[in-house]
Amino acid sequence: MKTSIRTSYCANVDESAQNQKVTLTGWASTIRDHGGIIFIDLRDRTGIVQIVSDPINFKETHNLLEEVKNEYVLKVSGTVRLRSEESINSNISTGKIEILAENIEVLNTCIPIPFQIQDEIETDENIRLKFRYLDLRRPRMNKIFLIRSETMKITRDFFDQDRFIEVETPYLTKSTPEGARDYLVPSRIYQNHFFALPQSPQILKQILMTSGFDRYYQIVRCFRDEDLRSDRQPEFTQIDFEMSFVSEEDIIEFTENLLKKIFNKILNIEFDSNFERITYQESMERFGNDRPDMRFDLELKDITNLFKETNFKVFNQVVEAGGIIKALKVEKSTLSRKDIDELTVFAQENGAKGLAWIKVNEDGLQSPIIKFFSDDELKNIKKEMNLNTNDIIFFGAGFEDEVNKYLSAVRLKLGKDLNLIKNDEFKFVWVTDFPLFIKEGQNLNSVHHPFTMPKDEINSTNILSVRSCAYDIVLNGTELGGGSLRIHKRDLQEKIFDLLKISKDESKDNFGFLLDALDSGTPPHGGLALGLDRILMFLTNSDSIRDVIAFPKTQKSSCLLTNAPSKVFSEKQLLELGIELIESED
Ligand code: AMO
Ligand code: AMP
Repeated sequence: MKTSIRTSYCANVDESAQNQKVTLTGWASTIRDHGGIIFIDLRDRTGIVQIVSDPINFKETHNLLEEVKNEYVLKVSGTVRLRSEESINSNISTGKIEILAENIEVLNTCIPIPFQIQDEIETDENIRLKFRYLDLRRPRMNKIFLIRSETMKITRDFFDQDRFIEVETPYLTKSTPEGARDYLVPSRIYQNHFFALPQSPQILKQILMTSGFDRYYQIVRCFRDEDLRSDRQPEFTQIDFEMSFVSEEDIIEFTENLLKKIFNKILNIEFDSNFERITYQESMERFGNDRPDMRFDLELKDITNLFKETNFKVFNQVVEAGGIIKALKVEKSTLSRKDIDELTVFAQENGAKGLAWIKVNEDGLQSPIIKFFSDDELKNIKKEMNLNTNDIIFFGAGFEDEVNKYLSAVRLKLGKDLNLIKNDEFKFVWVTDFPLFIKEGQNLNSVHHPFTMPKDEINSTNILSVRSCAYDIVLNGTELGGGSLRIHKRDLQEKIFDLLKISKDESKDNFGFLLDALDSGTPPHGGLALGLDRILMFLTNSDSIRDVIAFPKTQKSSCLLTNAPSKVFSEKQLLELGIELIESED
């Protein structure tokens, strides 16, 4: 690319330009003085090129280069020349040439910086976030945002090709329930009233279907005030879409093709078959959670039946109380007694009361609980779990959700500790047939959101077993996206609100416009949203979601670069909003 200042990017100069004059711009990265000759690696977003001074023929320029410090911004004009054979650097695209500096201009200086601009740095993340402008100057970070931009382009092209319309929905809106707290924005004009930032465009994209848009998409920011984790931010981006007159199958197929396209174009991976599918129920049974990491086996097995009449008090009490016993088998185990004890502590940290185990040694069974079992029971366990020499099984006893929670954590830990996971593998899986409702304490809640279409007829006895037309797409144990067919008729939507104990007044207040739209010719429709940031974590091999968001929030939901959120210093501004502050301790 030509601009008025430079003739090309740094890394685009190679031996084909030998003897040509070029003008390059960039940052002084490494500066070396070799026996009176100065070498500078000039860096821009494409890479680096070596600049060399000539103290005899271009003395003035050489003198200027002597003053240059790390991260100064330079404009360098000079001649491209070949490096001598011994100084060729085959690691970089410009490794065969260097630029003889004939003229330089210092476009800006730079104060000493808190960390070096290079890929490998061991700098506290808070420092990186405070000086994000420097952090983003690092080649790795630079590359991540190039990939992010490419991914968005691939996505837009994909939707365009299928005649989707990109529509922007508002950020100042009404609460959109997705299970988190809302970020609220006070209204100046309507005092004591608030906008909510959208947790997702869910309701409005459905309304677009009412309006006949037929196929909508948006790459859209969503806001959720929830506890943060390594793959959660309060402000994140969804690839969000909705279609009319479609089946679950259509949406699944469409999403699958989009994901294949993205992973193919960015990582050059070919997927020659459809993604696997598993029902929610099967996933819970086999893996203990609804986002199974399918890169390794180590499955859970319900063996409650074997212990219906056991004398082992721990299991007996659990079975009597309506709990379950599940087992997890490690074949050809090399786990030491210490490993087992550590695993037990880990299980306890995840809610287990204990982690009973039996190991098959050459000379018989070894276990702290073996004495409680009859010969028949032991025989049955061996048969049911197909135990061979050196295998070990772990038992989880308790209520189903507790056991699933800690055994799935134990499974993942064993998968990592025993190196059962192939790191370069991408195992997508669809989890389908989610339950419509979940009981939390005394309350019934939606597993996805209240607009999800039930798959089964609802009656007074089957509420918790009713399935929904909802599906999640999971990659290597991470939920990448979720969607569903939606309720498109008012009476069913009202019935769901009733079951969720949303009062008539509340539903009219919060969702009246949706109910009216459903009554006004809303077609059958459905859609899905993918977490763009999570996809990017995979595409760029990043452990933290903060690495793929240009200006992320910390684990404590603040921005260290701008110091947001911050206090409002102008009383007037608060007064206008009708807000009076309660003094907090800090
Ligand atoms: P859901 O709540 O499952 O569905 O969100 C869809 C996807 O968005 C991503 N995601 C997040 N990413 C980063 N930080 C967060 N705090 C965060 N929360 C969610 C996940 C998730 O799978 N309206 C529905 C979609 C639909 O039904 O069409 C929705 O928002 O990758
Ligand atoms: P205790 O009788 O509590 O000493 O437990 C005997 C063995 O059973 C120990 O190995 C415990 O780790 C294990 N254990 C205790 N409670 C449970 C449970 N709920 N699930 C699985 N193992 C358990």
